[in-house]
Amino acid sequence: MGLKEEIAKRRTFAIISHPDAGKTTLTEKLLLFGGAIHVAGAVKNNKIKKTATSDWMEIEKQRGISVATSVMGFNYADHKINILDTPGHQDFAEDTFRTLTAVDSVIIVVDCAKGVEIQTRRLMEVCRMRKTPVMIFVNKLDREGKDAFDILDELEKELEIAVRPLSWPIGIGKTFKGVYNIYQSELNLFRPDKQKVTERISFENIDDPELDKHITADLASKLREELEMIQEVYPQFDKEAYLKGDLAPVFFGSALNNFGVKELLDCFIDIAPAPRPVKAEERMVEPQEQAFTGFVFKIHANMDPNHRSCIAFVKVCSGKFERNTYYQHIRLGKQLRFSSPTAFMAQKKEILDEAFAGDIVGLPDTGNFKIGDTLTSGEDLHFRGLPSFSPELFKYIENEDPMKQKQLQKGIDQLMGEGVAQLFTNQFNGRKIIGTVGQLQFEVIQYRLLHEYGAKCRWLPINLYKACWIESDKPEVLEEFKKRKVQYMAFDIEGRDVFLAESNYMLMMARQDFPDIRFHFRSEF
Ligand code: G4P
Repeated sequence: MGLKEEIAKRRTFAIISHPDAGKTTLTEKLLLFGGAIHVAGAVKNNKIKKTATSDWMEIEKQRGISVATSVMGFNYADHKINILDTPGHQDFAEDTFRTLTAVDSVIIVVDCAKGVEIQTRRLMEVCRMRKTPVMIFVNKLDREGKDAFDILDELEKELEIAVRPLSWPIGIGKTFKGVYNIYQSELNLFRPDKQKVTERISFENIDDPELDKHITADLASKLREELEMIQEVYPQFDKEAYLKGDLAPVFFGSALNNFGVKELLDCFIDIAPAPRPVKAEERMVEPQEQAFTGFVFKIHANMDPNHRSCIAFVKVCSGKFERNTYYQHIRLGKQLRFSSPTAFMAQKKEILDEAFAGDIVGLPDTGNFKIGDTLTSGEDLHFRGLPSFSPELFKYIENEDPMKQKQLQKGIDQLMGEGVAQLFTNQFNGRKIIGTVGQLQFEVIQYRLLHEYGAKCRWLPINLYKACWIESDKPEVLEEFKKRKVQYMAFDIEGRDVFLAESNYMLMMARQDFPDIRFHFRSEF
């Protein structure tokens, strides 16, 4: 198979949701369809969640929260599917944001009773920023939930994206009878026996009186009415609008009961984008280009507790990656080659000989890589990752064990390179400040410093509101500002100037006093 065909087969995406909406359950069901895992029946207990796929870190086992982002590849209907798992817990939102830089599309899972929740909204913001195509799966229809039309309105309003239902529920909760697959024009009846593929009946025409026999006459006429309404209210599904990130097709179902999942998957295969061009600072890189290019979007330390190794996750942006071939590490300016790169096939890692644009490759690493690093066949290219966002919480990090200063330093450097949290170094006194999205990240850092580097750290409070990246067209004003605010100035990990505002009021005053300076809550503008 040629390069073009290989690439066209690939679908690389992430499933995102607010915790508990059913992301894990849906992922499992997709893996089942791909034959990547074999579990008898729907997985009601948490076992698979705890033992498989996404929890490589000790802490995750302890807490039962999906901390790590893992990759699960499988083949389905002549396609190579790569699911990038994302931690549901909001304290690890940054990890999820970064994963979104490596996908070509996204499936959002929404709980039909809870509707759009906060985490979903934040993740959608990143998708919107990047123009990532999204599909939405409204889950848990076997339970009582909101009216389907209301859900569509809510999705549209809360996620700020136009929606178009491609399937439609018949009843909900106790009265749930199934869904009408608008995309394929077929009726799927729901049998709550949780594992068998449910009955599928095709209808050329929704007015077919056969329909009344399968669901009651009442439900059939309600369904006809609602479908008519959908045709009136929503324009025909526009695939181009979906691919541009302007329109989200919506499916209904129940992941736990494996209902509506295959419809989602089949439509996904049909419409979701193959690997898309990726923007480098220098130019757009097309996936079909012969030369290999890729970038590191995640670094995972110590996946195997027996070996103190890291794995850098590389998204292949163009061409073909090959084992034992020299590639240029742009930031370090050196050639590296990899004898044991891994592919991620569902639960197992295996050595790969080649990978194509769209694939994720795991490179064993001993400290060469940082998040955002670019690898190429030689061309001087720089892929841009996601900008850093201002953290929500800040603490001073201090050494607790004077004998282990070096270990602490190394640990902090590596964890920050992995993107576990953000490090700011005060320009005035050199003290180190760690910024996070949530409290849990501080615990992870402390735990990992101790268990992976033998270093003990201590947290001291610091009262900060936001980190602001600053810019101005007038260098002299910037200098003046930095001099005046020296106690509040820090360097981020890239050495950029950051103003650490103690309060919203302080930031307001700074804005007032320095109208020529622009203050940003993210590192790229
Ligand atoms: P997450 O990864 O998004 O956090 O969600 P996860 O799949 O773990 O699902 C959260 C809970 O919702 C689980 O129940 C799961 O069984 C349940 N669930 C998922 N899909 C459906 C569905 O279609 N219908 C119903 N009724 N429930 C669903 P749990 O009680 O947390 O765990 P468990 O012990 O029941 O597995």
